[in-house]
Amino acid sequence: VSKRITTRDIRLKKAGEPIVALTAYTAPVAKLLDPHVDMLLVGDSLGMVLYGMDTTIGVTLDMMINHALAVMRGSQHACVIVDLPFGSYQESPQQAFRNAARVLAESGAAGVKLEGGAEMAETIQFLVSRGIPVLGHIGLKPQAVHALGGFRAQGRAESEALQIRADAQAVAGAGAFGVVIEGTVEFLASAITREIDIPTIGIGASPACDGQVLVTEDILGLFGTFTPKFVKRYAELAGAVEDAAGRYAADVRARRFPGPEHCFGMPKPSEP
Ligand code: KIV
Ligand code: NA
Repeated sequence: VSKRITTRDIRLKKAGEPIVALTAYTAPVAKLLDPHVDMLLVGDSLGMVLYGMDTTIGVTLDMMINHALAVMRGSQHACVIVDLPFGSYQESPQQAFRNAARVLAESGAAGVKLEGGAEMAETIQFLVSRGIPVLGHIGLKPQAVHALGGFRAQGRAESEALQIRADAQAVAGAGAFGVVIEGTVEFLASAITREIDIPTIGIGASPACDGQVLVTEDILGLFGTFTPKFVKRYAELAGAVEDAAGRYAADVRARRFPGPEHCFGMPKPSEP
């Protein structure tokens, strides 16, 4: 049995020290983040961030399993949770179980995340009661982008806020070990955090949430297409990548690279 943080440890962090989560899709990035976070989320945001898709709708289960396996290989401490992609769980609890079981069996990850509130409660209960830990995801649900008519903050209208509060209760009641709250007005996320007994993990939600998650490429300044208001940039790596590529190109064109020190069996100018 591994010494990783478990979904139970996460569940017990309600109202404790804030839960720190970031996305990871690859082994090398997982390795760099692992010592610093409690949870690594293999998000279906990889469709947009890595594959250049406009939405997460086209992400497949095989893509998620491959990246989950890479993140597991690159980490040893964090709890690794994997997004179930669009179309892999909405049909029935049985379909969700079959696909979530594949994710856990083939990657070794600790649990799955799925988008949805009250409408997914039956499915969450079905999975949890059969041994699959589930992290909920309410508020802005990117897989429902077509139904929502775009990406925008949720819960401004009274009826919408009431629905999202009911969604939080339903997800908690179904046995999820935590719930991601994305893109809601602040008071709603803080109210839900007080109202439910499982940890809330916010993204564009509230500082009152029991934890926070962001997309790693967003905080590194590596994903330029679109930066939501709720992202804080901790580095500007796109500029460093462009600079490195430009200097490499100039060196190759000027025959400054490779030098003797990069070649096999080529005497250095100083050697006899
Ligand atoms: O896909 C993702 O990266 C996510 C998080 C941002 C919550 O769902
Ligand atoms: Na996601």
